[in-house]
Amino acid sequence: MSSPGVINIAIIGCGGIALQNHLPGLALCPDVKVVALCDSDPTTLERARKQTGVAITSTRHDEIVGRDDIHAVIIATPNFTHAPIALDAIARRKHVLCEKPLALNHTDAKAMADAADGANVRHMTAFTYRFVPAMRYLAHLVQRGDLGQPYHFRSCRLQDWGTRNVGWRQAKKLAGTGELGDMLSHRIDFAHLLVGPMKRLVAQLKQWHPVRGGQPNDLDDWVAILSEFQTGATGVLESSKLASGRNESWRSLDYVEINGSERSFVFITGEWNKLQTGKIGGPGLETIEIPREFWKSPGSPRNPATGDPLVTFRYDQAWEFVDAIRNLRPCVPSFHDGALALAVMDAAVKSAEARQWVELGDDPRNVLKERQ
Ligand SMILES: NC(=O)c1ccc[n+]([C@@H]2O[C@H](COP(=O)([O-])OP(=O)(O)OC[C@H]3O[C@@H](n4cnc5c(N)ncnc54)[C@H](O)[C@@H]3O)[C@@H](O)[C@H]2O)c1
Repeated sequence: MSSPGVINIAIIGCGGIALQNHLPGLALCPDVKVVALCDSDPTTLERARKQTGVAITSTRHDEIVGRDDIHAVIIATPNFTHAPIALDAIARRKHVLCEKPLALNHTDAKAMADAADGANVRHMTAFTYRFVPAMRYLAHLVQRGDLGQPYHFRSCRLQDWGTRNVGWRQAKKLAGTGELGDMLSHRIDFAHLLVGPMKRLVAQLKQWHPVRGGQPNDLDDWVAILSEFQTGATGVLESSKLASGRNESWRSLDYVEINGSERSFVFITGEWNKLQTGKIGGPGLETIEIPREFWKSPGSPRNPATGDPLVTFRYDQAWEFVDAIRNLRPCVPSFHDGALALAVMDAAVKSAEARQWVELGDDPRNVLKERQ
């Protein structure tokens, strides 16, 4: 598919993340137009129409992705709808940016990635936290070899969501998993970015509250994974909705530490322009500033001095999608990265149910061994 002059984009799902991240990100991109909106809820759709002035709307995604004047779609709906909507859009040869978790399981996510490759459309998974400047710089330093041989990956995501109703996020048939897919999926992606694929893991999922805000909750409030990477490095990943008093979103802890043969690094999302690092045998950790050239993605039209940097880094995600469409290059992260995270998520669920270690196999794409 050739790269169009003006890129016409449709938003499928006009709820929280579409309004907070996708629309403001697209608004910064030159020669990009949001031309159609879809939401299955007529009230939400009408609110988005009024807010954006976008004239073409539908409560049915097939009416939108079938249009010839649309080049690309952003899917920002509950998890169970991602695969069917993406496959419909890909069949109509649309480029697709899809929210995480990419699907309900690795099989569906892999089918999405293969279909998108087969149709030669751009495909991207919204692992938004890869765009935190400090994470981009950390990935650069690790790739440059500053860490040395990776020994340990550690991540800790602690939020205080109490017992409030979290809507579709507390229903297994709509969300697939709870804290695992909602929050830990981003940190699994960090692990893949920094250390590479996992080889085996053992996991535990815990549900504390079978009722949230008066409605049944059949999903996990807490999850932890202990893993071995294909490099031999070890991983410890924990995420909770029940870290009382820790607040929410970027005001709460999102911590990653990696230890290697040369040095260690500590990343905290809330400290978007800093890392801590310490050299082997040194006096302890020191804080380093993120160089200005890492404050936004290369070529991004965003001005990092404008707005709250803990909000605006997310807009670079839209730029990555649009720039990849325009330059006919793969998006980073792609559907393959989304599928890789789902292989780990599937293994974590399986491990927790069986109370056993699960092998992920030696394949670089990291599919569950029994599915190869
Ligand atoms: N990348 C991130 O940092 C991030 C952050 C928040 C949410 N998310 C992901 O984004 C997705 C949406 O989350 P949200 O918080 O915006 O949820 P939300 O409930 O606020 O919005 C989802 C919208 O999709 C609509 N919808 C449901 N089924 C639909 C269908 N079949 N067709 C069209 N519209 C449909 C709903 O009516 C709703 O308005 C989820 O997959 C979530 O995991 C990602």
